Amino acid sequence: MNFPDWLTYIQQRTETALHAVLPAASLAPVKLHGAMRYAVLGGGKRVRALLVHGTGGFLTHARPEQLDRAACAVELIHAYSLIHDDLPCMDDDKLRRGKPTVHVEYDEATALLAGDALQTLAFQTLTEYQVCTTAAGQIEIIQLLSQAAGSHGMVGGQAIDIASAGCELTREELESMHVRKTGALIRAAVLIGARAGEGVNDDRRRRLDIYAKRIGLLYQVVDDILDMASDTATLGKTAGKDASCGKPTYVSLLGLADARRFANDLLVEAHDALAPLGERTSRLHELADFIAHRAS
Ligand code: IPE
Ligand code: IPE
Ligand code: MG
Ligand code: MG
Ligand code: MG
Repeated sequence: MNFPDWLTYIQQRTETALHAVLPAASLAPVKLHGAMRYAVLGGGKRVRALLVHGTGGFLTHARPEQLDRAACAVELIHAYSLIHDDLPCMDDDKLRRGKPTVHVEYDEATALLAGDALQTLAFQTLTEYQVCTTAAGQIEIIQLLSQAAGSHGMVGGQAIDIASAGCELTREELESMHVRKTGALIRAAVLIGARAGEGVNDDRRRRLDIYAKRIGLLYQVVDDILDMASDTATLGKTAGKDASCGKPTYVSLLGLADARRFANDLLVEAHDALAPLGERTSRLHELADFIAHRAS
């Protein structure tokens, strides 16, 4: 299968799997369940799901159904993070994935609760379905996801982000924020894929971890670039928000040209990390290019 076909195939699989994992909209409380489905279904590039499948599907003998469940768990955490990121007390955004944000379509309390429930559903999913061959491996996967999502990972990065509005950060501080708020969950998607099924050996895991860290940081550097260089219709979210909110970004620190150069350096390092792993990582090479060159 060529890369564009594989992309569509995994995106569709993920949509179907998420549909099945989410509570039916007709189940009480219907407003909450409606909001959860609204936030998760019918949008998003599913990059984290693609990384789970791109790693696990070619290196671990995991069954596609196992990877679907692991991918759902990561995408549920991601969707929750977006709902909360858009709230008035955070970035105060009105548009996400080309639709009104959850607090605009529903209300703030429902958005908060939908995010809470998606987070717990992510972990519930990993307790209800065996995504790797051993119980110890399953625990490790839960550990990877919880560490990436928590105060040392995504939530910690978001806390730094909010505290940094209107401030100038050093390059080290900016990197540390980006690694946490976005890099951690992207990294977890790769490492969870690598732990699914029979898992990979330590040497491969070390290589994959370097790749995962590079594309994790790359993901947010490109997000910073797109916020400045793209438009609202293409992004499906309001462009220019970082500058208008005084958020420190790679563009505000380095300028657009150097931010692009840095993104390219990270892309090269990601490819280099995979080189010794051979042909089985071709999807991961393609995904790194996709992350670097995406339009939205
Ligand atoms: C947006 O993530 C927020 C960041 C972490 C940069 P994505 O660009 O992956 O958003 P979707 O899931 O495709 O909408
Ligand atoms: C979001 O970063 C990171 C998250 C954990 C959600 P941004 O605030 O830059 O994401 P967008 O631009 O709103 O998607
Ligand atoms: Mg934000
Ligand atoms: Mg935001
Ligand atoms: Mg952004």
